[in-house]
Amino acid sequence: MIQKVGFHYTDDITVINRQQFEAHIRLYGGYVDKINEIDQILMNNPEREKANATFSFYRECKRGETYALNGVILHELYFENIGGIVNKPDKRAMEQLAMYFGSFEGWKEDFISTAKASRGWALLSYDQRSLRLRNISLDAHDLGNIAYSAPILVLDVYEHAYFLQYADNKVEYINRFMENINWEVISDRMGIY
Ligand SMILES: [Fe+2]
Repeated sequence: MIQKVGFHYTDDITVINRQQFEAHIRLYGGYVDKINEIDQILMNNPEREKANATFSFYRECKRGETYALNGVILHELYFENIGGIVNKPDKRAMEQLAMYFGSFEGWKEDFISTAKASRGWALLSYDQRSLRLRNISLDAHDLGNIAYSAPILVLDVYEHAYFLQYADNKVEYINRFMENINWEVISDRMGIY
């Protein structure tokens, strides 16, 4: 059973207001409920003998499993990496980003472009196959991730993440996000890899 993480709105979150935050948290809760529901169904091997790649109940369970679980994981990483009191990268993070993107500014420009180009998520990930950082684009929770990678920074660019507050001004939301990254969390994630 997957438990919901209790995220609370705090004054240091400036990228989204309380109303936008709380609507988004309700959506996150829905993904947790769904993965638990799917896990429960899968424990009973539902119609496994009829599994078929064109259409079958088992296929729908398997599609839902990775969609809902990635939805849970990515939202938790997103809510963890906004706000805080350290909104600038430390020396090591700067050096890491400069190593793969030329400079911190080079990384930032590329990350913003990745976010603009994405329908679901923009991620800074550590690609454990080629041993390097990459900015990657996901069009859905389960579409576009690198199989063997570790997310470092996660930005939700689905419309539901910003539309209540920003309407169609996605660029303003992305810019405000860039100023409200919790770099303490990012440094911790970088430290593991
Ligand atoms: Fe979201």
